[in-house]
Amino acid sequence: MTVSLETIANLAKRRGFAYPSSEIYGGLRSAYDYGPLGVELLRNVKAEWWRAVVQLRDDVVGIDSAILQARQVWQASGHEAAFTDPLVECSNCHTRWRLDQLEDPEQCPNCGMRNTFSEPRLFNLMFKTFMGPVEDEAGLVYLRPETAQGIFINYENVRRSNRLKLPFGIAQVGKSFRNEITPGQFVFRTREFEQMEMEFFCRPAESGAWFNYWVEQRFDWYVGLGMNPEHLRVRPHTEDELSHYSAGTVDVDYQFPWGWDELEGIANRTDFDLRAHTEHSGVDLRYFDEDTGERFFPHVIEPAAGATRTTFAFMIDAYREEEVRGETRTVLAFHPRLAPYKAAVLPLSKKPELIEPAERIAADLRRSLMVELDVTQSIGRRYRRQDEIGTPFCVTVDFDSLEDHAVTIRHRDSMLQDRVAMDKVGSYLRDRLDP
Ligand code: GAP
Repeated sequence: MTVSLETIANLAKRRGFAYPSSEIYGGLRSAYDYGPLGVELLRNVKAEWWRAVVQLRDDVVGIDSAILQARQVWQASGHEAAFTDPLVECSNCHTRWRLDQLEDPEQCPNCGMRNTFSEPRLFNLMFKTFMGPVEDEAGLVYLRPETAQGIFINYENVRRSNRLKLPFGIAQVGKSFRNEITPGQFVFRTREFEQMEMEFFCRPAESGAWFNYWVEQRFDWYVGLGMNPEHLRVRPHTEDELSHYSAGTVDVDYQFPWGWDELEGIANRTDFDLRAHTEHSGVDLRYFDEDTGERFFPHVIEPAAGATRTTFAFMIDAYREEEVRGETRTVLAFHPRLAPYKAAVLPLSKKPELIEPAERIAADLRRSLMVELDVTQSIGRRYRRQDEIGTPFCVTVDFDSLEDHAVTIRHRDSMLQDRVAMDKVGSYLRDRLDP
């Protein structure tokens, strides 16, 4: 089904996935705070990416570099000179727009006036700040606009310390900052966000094959975590869209409520970055091939995804509204590996003889799973709430449990129920959560 942006944003706020940042002061409009449910979902998305890209492979390692880096990094990478968007301002209502994102480049989307835009000005998207007590040019640093450069500047450290041989990848997940001209569409485009990037270093002649390989791997990752493949597409960049460093890029696009838009870019960065950092730093970042005695710059294939944007897409894709006995139930049908809570333990009543075993079951499950114990409201309402936050299993302790030492386990999607012995609940859930 097609769900609107407002529906997802409302659900996100009501159920504790994401709130506008600084809301009590009117909101920042370009940053979001992740609530108790959102932080779990986001962590699960990042963990699944790390599992697929680092943990399950023997040719990729991870790092966590600093957000603040030497200014020269961004001079070498080309960001200081070229990481810009064309900005226009409406002389009637004074709103500012990204020229390349306007449907009609002559009409202001806010006031509707025509031919009121200023000449486009190239606006650099990097946030500036100052290192140390003096706010002058010498102390100028940028908040990183991508995690990728933290990988390139550590390429030699990581290669050496881990005795890596081509081909190999270095992955990183973390915050990035861009002073976007028009943030919006909930967490799709924000000024503070998280990325999941990997730089895969290979021999130049093999870069084409690795490029195709990573496009396929990355597409499959989304589908493997339950995203509908019909809502995904692979779109090659046209010549005039290509970034300054790229010899070829494809985007993995998702069908958002407003149309197709980017989830991830997979770029062939050739030797642009290692060559640029060698020239600017004076440190030779060429690779020495012990077999052939050759020294050369490896080429780089980069799958670069947005963690916050992907989390949002998983929410949209999981959203369902179903008619059940004349009532609408809302379900976030997350893949179990992504679901914020894996199970909810629900004593049928607040009577101590039911609360006590429910607490024991919850405490036992919590050692390995995120579990919620919910004792308030009617059982029907509690089921609905768990459906709406995407909990795959509800474990209900009822009065029969006192006799048969078993509980009812309800499946979120089918709503079917199984009776399971109390001491088998953990294994029952784990078998179904990690298929
Ligand atoms: N190192 C290459 C790079 O950063 P990018 O296409 O600019 O490439 C990669 O960014 C991904 O980061 C995007 O596909 C998107 O998912 C995410 N991203 C970029 N800007 C974003 C923003 N302002 N808000 C949320 N996510 C963003």
